[in-house]
Amino acid sequence: MKVNSTTLVIPLAVLTALAAGPPILAQRQSSLDDFISSERDIALQGVRNNIGGGGSLVPGADPGIVVASPSRENPDYFFTWTRDSALTLIMLVDEYTNGDGSLQNLIEDYIDSQAILQTVTNPSGTLYPAGLGLGEPKFYTNKTRFDGTWGRPQRDGPALRAIALMEYSDSLLESGEEDRVKNVIWPIIYNDLLYVGQYWNQTGYDLWEEVQGSSFFTIITQHRALVQGSILAKEIALDCAPCGQAPEVLCFLSSNFWNATGGYLTADINVSNVNRSGINTDQILGSIHGFDIEAACNARNFQPCNSYSLATLKVVVDSFRDIYPINNGIPVGKPLAVGRYPEDTYFGGNPWYLTTLAVAEFLYDAVAQFEKANLLTIDDINLEFFKDIYPNATTGTYRDNTLDNVLASMTTYADGFVSVVQQYTPPNGSLSEQISKTTGEPLSAYDLTWSYASFITMAQRRDGEYVSWGYNEAEQPPATCSATSYNATGQYTPATAAGAPEVDKSCASQVEFSVIAPTTFGQNVYLVGNTSLLGGAVNDPSAVILPMNPGRITPSRPEWFIDIYLPAGVPVEYQYVLQQSDGSFTFDRTTYVVDVSPCGGPLVRTQDTFETGS
Ligand SMILES: *[C@@H]1O[C@H](CO)[C@@H](O)[C@H](O)[C@H]1NC(C)=O
Ligand SMILES: *[C@@H]1O[C@H](CO)[C@@H](O)[C@H](O)[C@H]1NC(C)=O
Ligand SMILES: *[C@@H]1O[C@H](CO)[C@@H](O)[C@H](O)[C@H]1NC(C)=O
Ligand SMILES: *[C@@H]1O[C@H](CO)[C@@H](O)[C@H](O)[C@H]1NC(C)=O
Ligand SMILES: *[C@@H]1O[C@H](CO)[C@@H](O)[C@H](O)[C@H]1NC(C)=O
Ligand SMILES: *[C@@H]1O[C@H](CO)[C@@H](O)[C@H](O)[C@H]1NC(C)=O
Ligand SMILES: *[C@@H]1O[C@H](CO)[C@@H](O)[C@H](O)[C@H]1NC(C)=O
Ligand SMILES: *[C@@H]1O[C@H](CO)[C@@H](O)[C@H](O)[C@H]1NC(C)=O
Ligand SMILES: *[C@@H]1O[C@H](CO)[C@@H](O)[C@H](O)[C@H]1NC(C)=O
Repeated sequence: MKVNSTTLVIPLAVLTALAAGPPILAQRQSSLDDFISSERDIALQGVRNNIGGGGSLVPGADPGIVVASPSRENPDYFFTWTRDSALTLIMLVDEYTNGDGSLQNLIEDYIDSQAILQTVTNPSGTLYPAGLGLGEPKFYTNKTRFDGTWGRPQRDGPALRAIALMEYSDSLLESGEEDRVKNVIWPIIYNDLLYVGQYWNQTGYDLWEEVQGSSFFTIITQHRALVQGSILAKEIALDCAPCGQAPEVLCFLSSNFWNATGGYLTADINVSNVNRSGINTDQILGSIHGFDIEAACNARNFQPCNSYSLATLKVVVDSFRDIYPINNGIPVGKPLAVGRYPEDTYFGGNPWYLTTLAVAEFLYDAVAQFEKANLLTIDDINLEFFKDIYPNATTGTYRDNTLDNVLASMTTYADGFVSVVQQYTPPNGSLSEQISKTTGEPLSAYDLTWSYASFITMAQRRDGEYVSWGYNEAEQPPATCSATSYNATGQYTPATAAGAPEVDKSCASQVEFSVIAPTTFGQNVYLVGNTSLLGGAVNDPSAVILPMNPGRITPSRPEWFIDIYLPAGVPVEYQYVLQQSDGSFTFDRTTYVVDVSPCGGPLVRTQDTFETGS
């Protein structure tokens, strides 16, 4: 076709402006409902694209393996994280039970992949005897171990995976497939519940993989997993001994996280390696994943409609107003772009899609709970939150018309956070990890699976799709909390009916290696030795597979450590290795020998000091 040049004269400057300008104009033309409905489809396809065994963006990933993002550099997210995968599956199972039968194969592939992953020996440890390997946060997408230094262990992963599998089991039970749940899926779930029961009272890394301590998000998901575990076990006439820890977990959750001075729930307690305010979307995400439409606002696990949770939401949202240029000029009480936590420096510290969406989802959850109760109590704790969205708010109890007015404002407020995401979503609907705080452009890993999953869970709640996982059946916590754990050592066993391989069950005894090794940023410490878990040899670069844990380092004590089960009664020759920031290795000049306890013997601890130079 011949183009009539007189009708097509567009000055180059205008074209450039259109191409480079923000996507706001195009997006603003559609209403929020239209945006959500089209973006929800894009998001579900985005999730499918990132799951191995057919996902178009992740060729080579094994079937059922959820890849965090197809991005292979800056940052390299071509891995599978237990947490991200389980959160994605919880969403997919909800879509499946809401009628999308086409998702069943993906879910089944996920189940098979997780049965195998549970047995993969990794830097966190093995499945047998003590489940330590279940705390490993991430693997390669071909289901092999990742040997880099990382924030290990992360104890939310097993809890979330158990929840995903239990949600699916509920739907199988409804279609009469009890045998399958009992023989194939429960063994995977039970390993994860054993792990939660055994380790809930020990610290680990948080969901952002930076803070070693007890994270609100981790604890609330652990509690939900144990409660759901006891309910499911009853339904299939099995026992869940580790689930008996649930009341103590709830006791711990409900007693320790409120910062009365700051007026917010803090993200992490018993923290050893950082110094932060504790203002964090960890609590917002925790609350939406502990959300149960049947639970009361004063339930001890901080539902979204809980006064302490709402107070926290305000503090968290306010913390991002002045630190991101794209939020400039947005007044208090108006929606804005939300990051992970104000001290964040990753990629310079920016808003994230999934945290902004989590705020919206949290508000939809809370509205649903107030509506269901037809009751809203404004008290001294949540008053400042309500004043932001309803300036006339005063303490008191509200029903009917006033309640409706406040909830309408809250819903508008929630929609506003989705509109912020709309404003920063490119026209093709692709959701990356972050939003540049200065330009509003997508930043960091592209097509992030968790961003897509969080869009869909937000849309589910906005559409009135709620879940109840059984909070009301949870046992109340004791009056005084105690440090407890369920000793599951020796009970972990591969889910062979789901395809897991057998594992070595010969007797092993625990050793904790600890070394004082001053390091600078970019340097890491590894452990080698003449036993297979330690790479098999000393003074051999090809044996360097076991990174040590930096989680106990303090300014005055640079301690690296690792807990590991080694063949009982066999002495091990071992050596520490310093990995330089260029990746090269410096071997400690000394090799040591540790006498591993005989079968049934006590834990042995080493106390060494790294000596450079040879
Ligand atoms: C698994 O993937 C990693 C990372 O791509 C690769 O280095 C390794 O060789 C693969 N292992 C197997 C057994 O394919
Ligand atoms: C509690 O909040 C105050 C005010 O924000 C803060 O200064 C303090 O560090 C917080 N305490 C803890 C333990 O996080
Ligand atoms: C963990 O934190 C709680 C609350 O701050 C405190 O009572 C407890 O002593 C801490 N426990 C450990 C093991 O540090
Ligand atoms: C934590 O940071 C605050 C504020 O910067 C400082 O006053 C305090 O001494 C720090 N505490 C530790 C243990 O580093
Ligand atoms: C707020 O209070 C003022 C003064 O009492 C009243 O005029 C106004 O109608 C109230 N606004 C709403 C939204 O209830
Ligand atoms: C979608 O748009 C973003 C931003 O313009 C771009 O980076 C990305 O490559 C696009 N994705 C596809 C699949 O076209
Ligand atoms: C273990 O539980 C006790 C009682 O709730 C608590 O004081 C302690 O801080 C917990 N420690 C960890 C690391 O969770
Ligand atoms: C946990 O159980 C194992 C296996 O029965 C036993 O060997 C170990 O001593 C127990 N540990 C503790 C701390 O009770
Ligand atoms: C490892 O070294 C120790 C100490 O030299 C030795 O007793 C042990 O037999 C060695 N283990 C193997 C598997 O060779």
